[in-house]
Amino acid sequence: MKILISELISETKSVFFKKYGTEPLWLVAAPGRVNLIGEHTDYNDGFVFPIAIERYTVIAAGHAEHDKHDDHDAAAIADIYSINKEESATIQLDGLATPPQTVVWSSYVQGTVQNVIEAGLRPKNFRAVINSNVPLGAGLSSSASLEIATATLLEAITGQKLDSVQKALLCQKAEHFFIRMPCGIMDQFISAMGREGYAMLLDCRSCVPKMIPLDDSDITVLIINSNVKHELTGSEYPDRRRQCEKAAQLLNVPKLRDATLQQLKTAQSVFDKEPDGTICFRRAYHIITENDRTVTMADAIVRKDWKTCGKLMYESHASMRDDFEITCAEIDLLVEIAQSTDGVIGSRMTGGGFGGCTVSLVESSKVDKISKTISEQYCSKTGIEPVISVTHPAQGAMILDSKS
Ligand code: GLA
Repeated sequence: MKILISELISETKSVFFKKYGTEPLWLVAAPGRVNLIGEHTDYNDGFVFPIAIERYTVIAAGHAEHDKHDDHDAAAIADIYSINKEESATIQLDGLATPPQTVVWSSYVQGTVQNVIEAGLRPKNFRAVINSNVPLGAGLSSSASLEIATATLLEAITGQKLDSVQKALLCQKAEHFFIRMPCGIMDQFISAMGREGYAMLLDCRSCVPKMIPLDDSDITVLIINSNVKHELTGSEYPDRRRQCEKAAQLLNVPKLRDATLQQLKTAQSVFDKEPDGTICFRRAYHIITENDRTVTMADAIVRKDWKTCGKLMYESHASMRDDFEITCAEIDLLVEIAQSTDGVIGSRMTGGGFGGCTVSLVESSKVDKISKTISEQYCSKTGIEPVISVTHPAQGAMILDSKS
């Protein structure tokens, strides 16, 4: 990881220098995440159990040449450049930009900047270079890492610190109102507050995270990218959210977090009367059982009860496949292959769904063999080359350098 992030940092700094002829004053980083278990539970006020991964969005920044404070004709703006997209964009630092018709990479920066400014942090004009090695559209929270890196940059520039919970919520608000993606709170939370060597059991109602050590050298977290793009901008995610809300209504509880399996079973006839009742019933079944699995898995990790962890991960996958219906054939295949591979403890899809990645816990001594087996079998059945990477629980958002 140290190598991965240091390469990213030096590339970002050197592009900044080439573009602007000066060293950056501020350097920040925020990671992507992988969720070990607890999918779509966050917006139901339930539990999630993610780790930050050793993949980051890094931003290097410095003062702009012209600033509104010194030159009244200058607009209050930031010039930003994305190394990944090889594209520049201008961010407004005053007034409210209207949400874009089409969301592009800089929309995440604009949405976050205006929420942070509204919260009272007022940066002078700046220019910045952005670089990320969180794969896009893989369900590893590249967007949240960009938002949290942006908010962290504004903290560095203004020298004012946001409360971490507030910071995560401001970035989530940018997704809701600027990007129009009704996401939960998990991704922004773990990107802001992840800790090296720890997984985070987050109660999404109280917003209180509990850090659980995940540092047994015999166990490795493997992320396998199916290379089937996950697109959450369509209607699938909001549909799931609506179905969960409807199920909560039918159960007469504020959120599905408050319902038990017994309550759900007893209410079967209430669901049966609704046109989409069968679907809502299954969605609720997933959420209620998934919340339970998430809390149980965190406890099993504390006890190093890997067998239970594995069982829960496979159950979670089956629940996402059959009841929540957010997996796809390639992802199911990856989990199936993993399940029959020696040394794999547990495996499941991670993130919003409809493609993206699986997360597996595997025996460290067998990582190479496991990777080779899964890669060969997946490729021979789908013709797609998966990308397999090992990750350790990484550190959340960081100000790496601040010279003023
Ligand atoms: C996306 C959302 C999260 C969460 C996951 C599913 O990543 O941004 O809030 O709902 O999907 O667990």
